[in-house]
Amino acid sequence: MIHNVDQKTPVVRLTHPNLRNGGSLEVAQHAAGSAGFRPDTSSVLWACGRHLASHLCEAPELIQGKRCIELGAGIGLTGIAAAALGASEVVLTDVPAAMSLLRANAAAASASHEGCRLIAQELLWGEQAHIEQALSRGAYEVVLGADILYFQSKEDVVKLVATMDGLLAAGGAVLLAYEWREDWETTDAFHCECAARGLHSEQRPLRGPLGEVDEDEAVLLFVSRGGSDATAAIF
Ligand SMILES: C[S@@+](CC[C@H](N)C(=O)[O-])C[C@H]1O[C@@H](n2cnc3c(N)ncnc32)[C@H](O)[C@@H]1O
Repeated sequence: MIHNVDQKTPVVRLTHPNLRNGGSLEVAQHAAGSAGFRPDTSSVLWACGRHLASHLCEAPELIQGKRCIELGAGIGLTGIAAAALGASEVVLTDVPAAMSLLRANAAAASASHEGCRLIAQELLWGEQAHIEQALSRGAYEVVLGADILYFQSKEDVVKLVATMDGLLAAGGAVLLAYEWREDWETTDAFHCECAARGLHSEQRPLRGPLGEVDEDEAVLLFVSRGGSDATAAIF
């Protein structure tokens, strides 16, 4: 068990009074040793996924009524929580190999989130065709990501930031839950690439049901188009 995340259980449960449909939701994961487990990182929940979902539960105004897309969604808990908190649309995305579990979780959840269009779509960072497909209904007010920044090559970080930039609507924001793993090069490349694209990036505390999450455990990387008063008013 890492930071209250059990990667062995077949079902992950999130409870919070702000979640619609009774204050709780369940999402399937494929634990190590079970059918469907993938030896990458996508078939189980990571601590940042739970932290970002809890943060949205504590501050649902961040996503209520908004079009959201989640990058590297894994099992989809964070985006499904956004749907259950009142987002108008949530697109869950990940690499092709992750899509069968993610699509199944999106389909199972969408039945209980009337009023929110919840879909899953393949999206490899930097892949223009995938980005354009995701943009077919317009840019996104919120781009979500949990534990998607970890020891990547500079090239992959550049692709990730380009993808965020391409998807983000004017006045929108990127909310990334980030676990510090002493990978200085990755975070440095991330902030430098944001700056090179005119995106403002800063670190904020994550909120959980018991107050702020310990910063040694995880933080929120908040990214917006620099200096926008409209963005500041919303987020
Ligand atoms: C550590 S997991 C986090 C999963 C989930 N967000 C969570 O918090 O439980 C990282 C996720 O990023 C995805 N990912 C990694 N590289 C990617 C890329 N180049 N394009 C799209 N997704 C990627 C992985 O497939 C995986 O689902």
